[in-house]
Amino acid sequence: MVAAVSEAGGFGILGAGAWKKDELKTQIDQTRELTEKPFGVNIVVRSPHAVDQVNLVIEEGLKAVTTSAGNPHTFTARLKEAGVYVMHVLPTVQFAKIAEQAGVDAVIAEGVESGGFTSRYEVTTFALVPQVVDAVNLPVLAAGGIGDGRGFAAALALGAMGVQLGTVFMGTQEANITHAYKQALLMARDTDTHLVRMGRAAQRQMTDELRQRVSDTLASKADRRDLEIDDTIRLDWDEHVKLKKVPRVMSAGQVAGLVRDIVPAKELIEQMVQGAKAIFSPDNDCIKLIEAV
Ligand SMILES: Cc1cc2nc3c(=O)[nH]c(=O)nc-3n(C[C@H](O)[C@H](O)[C@H](O)COP(=O)(O)O)c2cc1C
Repeated sequence: MVAAVSEAGGFGILGAGAWKKDELKTQIDQTRELTEKPFGVNIVVRSPHAVDQVNLVIEEGLKAVTTSAGNPHTFTARLKEAGVYVMHVLPTVQFAKIAEQAGVDAVIAEGVESGGFTSRYEVTTFALVPQVVDAVNLPVLAAGGIGDGRGFAAALALGAMGVQLGTVFMGTQEANITHAYKQALLMARDTDTHLVRMGRAAQRQMTDELRQRVSDTLASKADRRDLEIDDTIRLDWDEHVKLKKVPRVMSAGQVAGLVRDIVPAKELIEQMVQGAKAIFSPDNDCIKLIEAV
């Protein structure tokens, strides 16, 4: 998926998470087999393998990383000395200022609607981005709740220079997640995720109610062998018959409700760019609406 994103003009980022050095190396090698375009790595600062991951990123000559879930002072100087562009993910204005002091090149302002681990502060992307833009003298990217050209355009209108997407990329053909997870994305409504607090952190997860609906749907599909199988989500009958195989925790952002088809990553990016361009075109109704005020 990372290669597909970079091939399509985005900047694919390998989420190194809890990977050991050799696991990350394998992923970097495999990505390089698929694309010559640049891609990056996300380093979860608090991961026990973060130091090894930073060393590997430098050894491999990667040009940019995102750092998240931890203090931006930990690795920024080392990465920058090695010529790596550092973007730090943060949930509040205060953390944006800390990241700026740490010397990062750009900040990613991530609102509470986002999938994955997010902050306990609950500042939404819409409120957070312009405040971070005003607070720091750095390029700002917006993350959380962005799913199509409208979200992209809105982020740019708020002062962001780009966007980071998670949830909608899980709804692509290249995403390496289970069929049940993709089915859950397709079935998710706006209210089907919730914030689960874990001490100082929080994770946005799909609700048990959605998991149950997915489970029931897959069960009934598995009973009906005459079902028309969607080409993009090839149903694995055994998996579905066993069924309880829906993962224990499925994380996703509130924007999951916008995932309606499982598409190639290239298509998602192209549609997003086209959609944003249309919004900013001179004949768009937005201008008329503003002029009517
Ligand atoms: C399943 C999932 C796993 C994620 N894992 C990470 C991670 O390991 N590191 C990180 O910095 N962000 C992680 N994120 C957050 C994304 O990088 C991105 O900021 C977020 O998904 C943006 O919000 P959206 O989900 O509304 O698009 C994850 C998101 C999802 C949905």
